[in-house]
Amino acid sequence: MKFLLTFVLLALASSHAFASDPSPLQDLCVATNDSNSVMFVNGKFCKDPKLAFRYPGNTSNLLGSKVTTAFVDQFPRLNTLGIAMARLDFAPYGLNPPHIHPCGTEMLVVVEGTVYVGFVTSNQLNNTLFTKVLTKGDVFMFPQGLIHFQLNIGQANALAFAFLSSQNPGLITTANSVFGSKPLINVDVLTKAFQVDNKLINYLQAQN
Ligand SMILES: *[C@@H]1O[C@H](CO)[C@@H](O)[C@H](O)[C@H]1NC(C)=O
Ligand SMILES: *[C@@H]1O[C@H](CO)[C@@H](O)[C@H](O)[C@H]1NC(C)=O
Ligand SMILES: *[C@@H]1O[C@H](CO)[C@@H](O)[C@H](O)[C@H]1NC(C)=O
Repeated sequence: MKFLLTFVLLALASSHAFASDPSPLQDLCVATNDSNSVMFVNGKFCKDPKLAFRYPGNTSNLLGSKVTTAFVDQFPRLNTLGIAMARLDFAPYGLNPPHIHPCGTEMLVVVEGTVYVGFVTSNQLNNTLFTKVLTKGDVFMFPQGLIHFQLNIGQANALAFAFLSSQNPGLITTANSVFGSKPLINVDVLTKAFQVDNKLINYLQAQN
């Protein structure tokens, strides 16, 4: 609930810059064009609130995790404010796979569960891996631009919130970028880069 309160306060703080903006009438109203949506506030239909930030993300997927972002694209009032956040839901053993935020440092706080987290420094610092097992209330920093991941190592669901130092921290999921680009990166590039045979590269490309 504290996070929601922060949201509402932020929204209020910025609202005087837009004199005609109404005060928020509810925690969140994610606009939708779907007129079958049941809620209707201030001229816009709202998405079914179960899709919004305060509710658990759907972790029924191969990774067993769901990241719900409140970057400027989803939360336009962040514009010019230099901050963003995300909600991370994990099924048991769910993984937020290795990824990079090119434009923002991340601070993560675990609210429920036991999460193994880590990041890898750049080549200049010898690709050193830093890891930690976090439980409720623990905080961890992921420096801007470094590869990092979070894995739920508990048998229960885990929940964490991330705060990022940019309204648009960006997201590069390494597996998707390297093996799932459109069009695909030439197999010769990847076989040499990873020093494996092309069957393995073809296999990895088929997964992304
Ligand atoms: C919603 O409708 C507006 C106005 O017709 C349109 O510009 C916009 O692209 C639509 N958005 C979506 C997500 O369909
Ligand atoms: C969660 O996602 C799965 C797979 O896409 C889907 O079958 C299921 O209905 C979703 N659950 C909810 C509550 O939306
Ligand atoms: C990285 O490795 C090199 C070669 O082993 C070493 O000289 C250097 O001190 C290391 N740098 C750091 C930051 O650990």
